[in-house]
Amino acid sequence: MSHVELDSPIQHRDPIVDLDWIPRFRATMANSVFPRLPGFRDFPPEDFALRTHICEAWRRVARRYGFLEYDGPPLEPIELYVQKSGDEIVNQLYSFIDKGDRQVSLRPEMTPSLARILGARSRGMSKPIRWFSLPQLFRYERQQRGRLKEHFQWNVDLIGEAGVAADAEILAVAIDGLRELGLTSDDFVARVSDRRLVQILLEVVGVPEDAIAATLAIADKLGRKQESVVRDMLVADLEFSDDLAKQVLAIFLAPSLEDLDAQVLSDSRVSEGIASFHEFVARLGEMGLGEYVEVDLKIVRGLAYYTGVVFELFDRQGELRAICGGGRYDRLLELVGGEPLPATGFGMGDVVLGELLADRGLIPTFQRELDYFVVVVSAQERPEALRIAQALRESGKSVAYSFRNQSLLKQMKAAGREGATVALIIGPAELERGCFIARDMTSGEEREVVLSDLI
Ligand code: HAM
Repeated sequence: MSHVELDSPIQHRDPIVDLDWIPRFRATMANSVFPRLPGFRDFPPEDFALRTHICEAWRRVARRYGFLEYDGPPLEPIELYVQKSGDEIVNQLYSFIDKGDRQVSLRPEMTPSLARILGARSRGMSKPIRWFSLPQLFRYERQQRGRLKEHFQWNVDLIGEAGVAADAEILAVAIDGLRELGLTSDDFVARVSDRRLVQILLEVVGVPEDAIAATLAIADKLGRKQESVVRDMLVADLEFSDDLAKQVLAIFLAPSLEDLDAQVLSDSRVSEGIASFHEFVARLGEMGLGEYVEVDLKIVRGLAYYTGVVFELFDRQGELRAICGGGRYDRLLELVGGEPLPATGFGMGDVVLGELLADRGLIPTFQRELDYFVVVVSAQERPEALRIAQALRESGKSVAYSFRNQSLLKQMKAAGREGATVALIIGPAELERGCFIARDMTSGEEREVVLSDLI
């Protein structure tokens, strides 16, 4: 049977009154299993195991840095995202009007929810606040390699600390999240920039303040579009002179901060900005993570709320989209009505990361695991088998057995399929003596045991 994906939405009608879509739908479905929406994933156990492998590594690292896990609702009022997140995400919202006439949206990112949750409770909390979360997020994006309509995203945020030390700590968590999964500096790199510094640089070369956001949005395309196309956009869309467009591009494409124009570097606001950015990079060096970090002023981030250090993590080969993105957002909590608190954090998705782990051969092979499989020689031993199985389960062991009367051979094969470490075999002789045979499924070794030997 083929597996189809349902691309054209079924009209939403009252199913009790109007059922004439059913034969049409059945015709679409002929010879296929029930469809899955495009861009969504099923997680059968072997795929769920990979998700668990990734999420548990993320959890271990976050806890090692002292972060506490939280969550929020998957559905939020749409206003939380409009204006706060920026046009790109707002155009990708899974939004609808609920039965109470509220405009709502599935969460496309976690940061606005975090700001909302803290807005209501941060005043009484000691700072800094270290929180992490593993939400499933939904964005109506065109499906492509590394991009789906849903993904799980590790969010780690540090709130209430304004200095670059907090930015460095946050990036260290992101880097360690990937190292925990076996990736090294040969596999990935963190490209870092500073939106505030870039804004100062743009102002110094003469970009008007009200054109800064649009300039950043155009510069965001530099990784994907040719330099000449981006220059033409600056001239055509923002009415920059050729000279200004050239100076703007020189900023974003500078191989290092030292390569910026000497006159620009002599501005006192620029040198202050550079000193603080250098401190951020130096901190990571002191933590032993310097080899993972590269300065790249092209990293501006698509989301509207960032105000300082920003970063994105990429595979070294440059074959995949960003694995992780984050930075400082000092105004967001205030914007959603909370205490004005500085904040910094990141989101790391499981989709691109899964691709990278697969490319590097770092996905563990899926193995079924079971402590015991109980095998009976005849139906007569079944009550004793059930008693043993329950006693072992109560002691925390995993146990399975055949539900039907089957030959010994079939039961032993089932034990193998289930991944049992040990088969416990009970026959009439064992029943009489109050014991059973424990067979090691790998070595084939057998020994006689009683229940208390196993618990
Ligand atoms: P973001 O850059 O939009 O940031 O997403 C972070 C990461 O989530 C991306 O680098 C990517 O790996 C993954 N991701 C995003 N969209 C998709 C998609 N459609 N399919 C698969 N993976 C995806 C944020 O969301 C910020 N709220 C992160 C943040 C937290 N900033 C501060 N705190």
